[in-house]
Amino acid sequence: MKVTILVSCAVICFSSVAFSSSVDKSLIFLQKYGYLDGTPTRSNKFSRLKRENNYSEALKRFQRLYGLNPTGIADKETLLAMDLPRCGVKDPNTSKQTIQKRNAVLNKPLWKKRDLTYTISQYSHHLNRSLVEHEIERAFAEWSKYTDFTFTNSKSQNADIDIRFERDHVYGDSFYGDNSLIAYTQVNKDGMRLIHFNDEKKWNFNGKSDSLFWTALHEIGHILGLDHTNVIGSVMWPTSCLSFSELQSYDIQAIQELYGLKKTHG
Ligand SMILES: *[C@@H]1O[C@H](CO)[C@@H](O)[C@H](O)[C@H]1NC(C)=O
Ligand SMILES: *[C@@H]1O[C@H](CO)[C@@H](O)[C@H](O)[C@H]1NC(C)=O
Ligand SMILES: *[C@@H]1O[C@H](CO)[C@@H](O)[C@H](O)[C@H]1NC(C)=O
Repeated sequence: MKVTILVSCAVICFSSVAFSSSVDKSLIFLQKYGYLDGTPTRSNKFSRLKRENNYSEALKRFQRLYGLNPTGIADKETLLAMDLPRCGVKDPNTSKQTIQKRNAVLNKPLWKKRDLTYTISQYSHHLNRSLVEHEIERAFAEWSKYTDFTFTNSKSQNADIDIRFERDHVYGDSFYGDNSLIAYTQVNKDGMRLIHFNDEKKWNFNGKSDSLFWTALHEIGHILGLDHTNVIGSVMWPTSCLSFSELQSYDIQAIQELYGLKKTHG
């Protein structure tokens, strides 16, 4: 069933998937998304051999998060799953055999205050600004429905959250040449939270696949302190192949475990 979801996701997301994939490609993926130590490089046969045992364990961890059979082998489904468009935030590092349903909730809340400001400091080079602002605002509003957070577009350099559309950003993750990386979050040295959207992507405003709204919803979840989860059918699952028009029950429970139920109304 879960595998079926993944395969149909892949059919939706890709017109054709090339299987030039080798262990090396999966190794790069595992390093990039928090499953194996080391920097992703294209020519690390040697370290691959060294890490062979850890590789298989890392692969199982990935397979569990994505709802695949934890075989520890880079089979067809596994490689397909690695090609799905996804968030660039690393997946949680749990050494446990089973990923707890609740493991997405960090131990302590990130924010003491509840009234947060944001700014869009770099707009998309191809998307309509007011439509982008509208989608971002809707995504914030969705989190406000279930928490006491308020989010105001302050258009200020000192906002708590900075949103940027980028084509090639030189950081641990680069969007350049990586079509499957759709967005990620980061904390800069001043403690400001950043959300980066891949501006090479053809974002949609209609709530179907490649939805800017859904991706904003997911990234704001990270900004508020949620990690990726293995609950397929939740907004905080790492891939974007299922798009949602609202937060799902898992996400609501997770955020309320961090910050409590919404007290105020309105
Ligand atoms: C995962 O956690 C273990 C134990 O804390 C640590 O030794 C290991 O380096 C971590 N792996 C990654 C890829 O972060
Ligand atoms: C494999 O994992 C173990 C335990 O997490 C770690 O101590 C060791 O350094 C890893 N080996 C390699 C080659 O990464
Ligand atoms: C952007 O979208 C809005 C709302 O649909 C529309 O009124 C406006 O004309 C658009 N602006 C541009 C530059 O296309």
